[in-house]
Amino acid sequence: MKATARACANQGLIKYWGKTEESGRLPSNDSISVCLDRLTTTTTVEFSPEYAHDTVRINGAPAGDHRVTRHLDLVRAMAKSTLKARVDSQNGFPAAVGFASSASGFAALSLAAASAIGLNLSQVELTRLARRGSGSASRSIPGGFSELKAGNDEEAVAIQLASPESVDLRTVVVVVGEAPKKTPSSEGMRITTETSPMFRARLEYLPKALDDMRAALRSGDPAEVARLAEVDTLNMHATMLTSQPSLIYWTAETVAVMHDVRAMREDGIPAYFSIDAGQNPFVNVPAPHAEAARRRLEQLPVVRSTFLCAPGGPTELVDPPLF
Ligand code: PMV
Repeated sequence: MKATARACANQGLIKYWGKTEESGRLPSNDSISVCLDRLTTTTTVEFSPEYAHDTVRINGAPAGDHRVTRHLDLVRAMAKSTLKARVDSQNGFPAAVGFASSASGFAALSLAAASAIGLNLSQVELTRLARRGSGSASRSIPGGFSELKAGNDEEAVAIQLASPESVDLRTVVVVVGEAPKKTPSSEGMRITTETSPMFRARLEYLPKALDDMRAALRSGDPAEVARLAEVDTLNMHATMLTSQPSLIYWTAETVAVMHDVRAMREDGIPAYFSIDAGQNPFVNVPAPHAEAARRRLEQLPVVRSTFLCAPGGPTELVDPPLF
């Protein structure tokens, strides 16, 4: 009763920010993302009558993570089992880079736990399970460029819109700080939906933004995908900035990178920034310009390190197990 899965983290391109229901993690809006091939999490889960309670280790250290245990409870309820589990999870990138990576974490946990307990879930069913751990995790299940639908528990599932190879996009993950964000995204979403006067305007703007992104993915236009993600970043952060209390996920270093990306465009590199709920920006750029963009970012004094990622694949079962 042991299985191991590997999942990629993902970057919101048209971002998910806000829920209609907290407990089921039902998103207020459709969202689109791209998986990042170098930001992976591998997780082994074993259910056994020999375990008296769940134990969870993340990157080798014991973790008292109630969200993991709650997720295991969901899987046990689906399988009508009471078996306890051992969970080991390892990120394929330095823990200190500040990407808490709930997306890759809950995607890998969902597939590994479902397989270990003997549930035979379809990919769509897995996206529903992963969403209940973390909304963005749902989009890491099908991989590539994928969309998580808004709606009720039945409707809020993720599908792949475009394969990893179909859009020649690269993402430079730019590390400017390692401190975890002060406001976790669940809390931030609640504050924004309840207080930002811009939130309703965002919901009105989204249908066209989503259609434009779907069209850019269909036509395989990486510069347009990157441009639209920057537009959406500023729209989402406008709702955060105008919340009460206001949510400023950017630091001075984040803003320095934003300005340098705009200067790069003036110098002929079609690079665009994208920022989720944190200080570390992504820089999206068509593949032929990726190395030039990365070299330039690494010269900035505020940049600590970078990872160059291509679009990543789906969450998969892998060998060997971590224990
Ligand atoms: O990772 P979650 O499910 O708590 O949500 C994070 C949402 C953003 O990263 C800010 C945007 C997105 O679409 O990924």
